[in-house]
Amino acid sequence: MSGNGKKLRSTAWFGATGKDGFAHRSWLKNQGTPIDAFDGRPVIGICNSWSELTPCNAHFRDVAEMVKRGVWEAGGFPLEFPVMSLGEPIMRPTTMLFRNLMSMDVEESIRANPLDGVVLLSGCDKTQPAMLMGAASCDLPSIVVTGGPMLNGKFQGRDIGSGTDVWRFSEDVRAGNMTLDDFVAAEAGMSRSNGHCMSMGTASTMASMTEALGMTPTGAAAIPAVDANRRRYAQNIGRRIVEMVNEDLHMSKIVTREAFENAIRTNAAIGGSTNAIIHLIAVAGRLGVPLEIEDFDQLGRGVPLMVNLMPNGTYLMEDFYYAGGLPVVTKELLDHGLLHADAMTVTGKTVGESVADVKNYNTEVITPFDNPLNNDVGLAVLRGNLCPDGAVIKPSAATPALMQHRGRAVVFETVEDMREQMDNDDLDIDETCIMVLKGAGPRGYPGMAEVGNFPLPRKILKKGITDMVRISDARMSGTAYGTVVLHVAPESAVGGPLALVQTGDMIELDVEGRRLHLDVSDEELERRRAAWEEPAPALDRGYVRLYSQHVMQADRGCDFDFLVGGSGAAVPRENH
Ligand code: FES
Repeated sequence: MSGNGKKLRSTAWFGATGKDGFAHRSWLKNQGTPIDAFDGRPVIGICNSWSELTPCNAHFRDVAEMVKRGVWEAGGFPLEFPVMSLGEPIMRPTTMLFRNLMSMDVEESIRANPLDGVVLLSGCDKTQPAMLMGAASCDLPSIVVTGGPMLNGKFQGRDIGSGTDVWRFSEDVRAGNMTLDDFVAAEAGMSRSNGHCMSMGTASTMASMTEALGMTPTGAAAIPAVDANRRRYAQNIGRRIVEMVNEDLHMSKIVTREAFENAIRTNAAIGGSTNAIIHLIAVAGRLGVPLEIEDFDQLGRGVPLMVNLMPNGTYLMEDFYYAGGLPVVTKELLDHGLLHADAMTVTGKTVGESVADVKNYNTEVITPFDNPLNNDVGLAVLRGNLCPDGAVIKPSAATPALMQHRGRAVVFETVEDMREQMDNDDLDIDETCIMVLKGAGPRGYPGMAEVGNFPLPRKILKKGITDMVRISDARMSGTAYGTVVLHVAPESAVGGPLALVQTGDMIELDVEGRRLHLDVSDEELERRRAAWEEPAPALDRGYVRLYSQHVMQADRGCDFDFLVGGSGAAVPRENH
């Protein structure tokens, strides 16, 4: 029985009599579980994405122990279980191919077991949305422990940021401005401690989105992974999830339309990753909350970029934490009427109550709302005959002079084609051209690779040019930058207009006007469409087959069509 008199879900297992109850309790007692763990107290699942193959989550065994300590203290019974883990820098072809699979693992593991509440341990990019998606489908009382960022990278006397400086270094090597020895030496300087990428990449963005949605306590996102405060935070969450079960505070009471609006505006203010669009739409879909890509453009307008972190700025997550972290941004947005103050959080306090006493300790790192790093940048959603279902550009990471540009298309039919051509000095291209990459979308690659910020041709780099307009159906790493149009939908592999672009066509990009136009007549496009052939799937068996048959386009969050909406957490039928 929970604290509010409601029958606990776990009672169906541990409160059972006869042979079933015996089996459920007896086998767990083989771990030395105290007898009174089965006295009807809340059972808390600790859903752990620990893996040595996910370096960003490699400290989670230790974190899980802290959560357990808190659960015991609060009178709960913790049970840790593993789920699939997705290591961004390691997994091939891309972790995004497996995000939905991990979310299914999370969902089914929760539903199938005697859990009353769940603590989700997630850090690296895709582990965060996968956890939120899976938990949303079950809708138990749930709370996220984010893993925290690594300490600032250090190399040759300066700070370097995860991902962001890798792109810079690799272009420097190709342009002959950095030695290979220095390049290798930078590896250890970049990754100095446990934790996820410490620039405002996708992991830091999704940790911030988790906080903005109210799914982790206010102030948690920026605590460095190795700071002792993160261990205290984990222990407090262990205590809090037991209270949440007793309060019957389910995920759907926290992650509402208002919470998503808060998250979208927060994402604009922190200069967060374009990947957040895809992930938040997918989470909303599981909860039945209406959310469109246009929401990101419309709600983000008028929100200044306040956070001076790479890839948009100078600093890193450790600096953000010392400056006061996300609560400073939240308070500024609230004070300017841009957030829903009464949105609920996992702590039981509203957003407004949570940031009442917050202060900004470094206005270089978190610039004031009225004197921001950049005005009104947000994420721009483009429409036009090249992207009828939308495309995305991140103005804060782009070159202002290229935001309105007309250029000759240079087309790469595949990622491999692009890689082969990049160092070809005979490639017919100059810096005014627009590079177009096909075959990198959700179905095409498959998994929608993070190659949207593909490199500039060597002959262009040698001229000292550092940016060109690039268009693709790919995603982009949250740590990347450039004038890159991403998430073109429908993608080329399903016959979207992108598939019909040819080298020599003229393309117009107008970010202010939110327009992306292929300057080719409708008749000519129809002629090309008639000649277009759908590419054969990369692999036609197993999970990849399931994925290819059911993945939706970027504007629908790349979730599987059969996973939209939740199934709840009704106790499955006994079937022994
Ligand atoms: Fe895991 Fe960047 S590689 S967060």
